[in-house]
Amino acid sequence: MSQASWSSVDAYFSKMLVPEDGCLKQALSDSEAAGLPPHNVAPNQGKFLHLLARVQGARRILEIGTLGGYSTIWLARALPDEGRLVTLEADPKNAAIASANIERAGLSSVVSVCVGPAIDSLRTMVAAGESPFDFIFIDADKPNNPAYLELSLQLSRPGTVIIGDNVVREGEVANAMSSDARVQGVRSFLEMMSADPRLSATAIQTVGSKGYDGFSMAVVES
Ligand code: SAH
Ligand code: DHB
Ligand code: MG
Repeated sequence: MSQASWSSVDAYFSKMLVPEDGCLKQALSDSEAAGLPPHNVAPNQGKFLHLLARVQGARRILEIGTLGGYSTIWLARALPDEGRLVTLEADPKNAAIASANIERAGLSSVVSVCVGPAIDSLRTMVAAGESPFDFIFIDADKPNNPAYLELSLQLSRPGTVIIGDNVVREGEVANAMSSDARVQGVRSFLEMMSADPRLSATAIQTVGSKGYDGFSMAVVES
């Protein structure tokens, strides 16, 4: 069992359960045409995030790492009327593509794309006394995951759900000796979640069109 079968099962699941959607398809094709890397979540993963946010009843969502806005659109569509999503992106070119995709999806009044290094944006929100978020999706540069977790906790309330993307990296996460700063960033992030009494956490491996990877999930206890 390997990539070809994982991809064909993902194609089958997506065809069966994740209806074709013009806005989402065009968000991906415009991202590709603009030369953005294909680092978006898969369609069935996007729908999974969307359903998690709905199950949780999220009204305020924070995303760290926008790229072309693909996961942003999935998450923003989970919000009720008056809901709000803030997404953080360092690269102005990505943010411009994302903003166009979000606009086309009719979500510009719901989503704020915040351009700049995410640590700066998060610190600014903390300092400004931004209201807590209900659901946080961490999916930017993995070496900064520990900082993103610490700052996310300052923008959380009991019950906030924190999802981390790409926590498996083809299994490298289990290699304590890895010289990859992304792997070490994820390992420190998981250690922080384990050690922090404010959090209850787990992680799940996934295979599919995006290869062998996984998500972490944490709930803020107090
Ligand atoms: N969530 C997106 C994929 C995000 S890819 C989706 O699933 O559709 C990761 C993104 O994080 C890239 O667009 C990259 O430019 C951005 N990024 C990398 N370092 C960053 C930083 N320090 N601050 C904010 N964004 C950053
Ligand atoms: C990479 C980043 C991602 O967020 C992702 O989902 C896949 C790949 C990367 O940097 O390689
Ligand atoms: Mg990712």
